[in-house]
Amino acid sequence: MPQLNAIVMRHLPANLKETDMNKKDTSNSSSPHVSPPLPYAENALEPVITANTIGFHYRKHHKGYVDNLNKLVAGTEYADLSLEKIITGTAGRKEKAAIFNNAAQIWNHTFYWKSMRSKGGGEPPAALKQKMDASFGSVDACKKELASVAVSQFGSGWAWLVLDGDKLKIVKTANADVPLTTGMKPLLTVDVWEHAYYLDYQNRRADYVNAVLDKLINWEFALQNAS
Ligand SMILES: [Fe+2]
Repeated sequence: MPQLNAIVMRHLPANLKETDMNKKDTSNSSSPHVSPPLPYAENALEPVITANTIGFHYRKHHKGYVDNLNKLVAGTEYADLSLEKIITGTAGRKEKAAIFNNAAQIWNHTFYWKSMRSKGGGEPPAALKQKMDASFGSVDACKKELASVAVSQFGSGWAWLVLDGDKLKIVKTANADVPLTTGMKPLLTVDVWEHAYYLDYQNRRADYVNAVLDKLINWEFALQNAS
């Protein structure tokens, strides 16, 4: 899918180019994909997200996708491809769903970790605020739509702030789907799979989402991606 590949590479956030998102473990050729390190300590997001949740999420779930992908692509045409090329090459192909799902979940999780930071939230940087005002009317309206979309995603999935052309938009994706494959440029994401919040919030997804937006969301990361 050369066209799709071109779209994805054009919209790939500058700080998530292949070298960052698709580190190769050259010491073990049967396990080419590795989990990029967390950008903070596992307890850095407490009390909003506990170290217990981050530990399971990063070391079990995220790593599980990495391990699965390595097994699924071994000896196939995808074995030596970058994560992005695997995602674009398998998107929408039912017979490749397992490879797509695991590859996209690796990408999504790496992007999610960077979408949060300790002592995040608050007022976005002026350049991002300006874009939010232009697209949503205000920062609060943008946050409200992001929260509403995150809470209303039926079942597992993701809520995203994206750049679509020169306009900011909020979109949701189900399961492993990622807006990259539809030509939109992801700026930040909130994981609304139950494994992201259930240990801390049980069924209260709205409390998790609002706490993330108020206290952890990394607006600087979104602005870097929009530039
Ligand atoms: Fe997750």
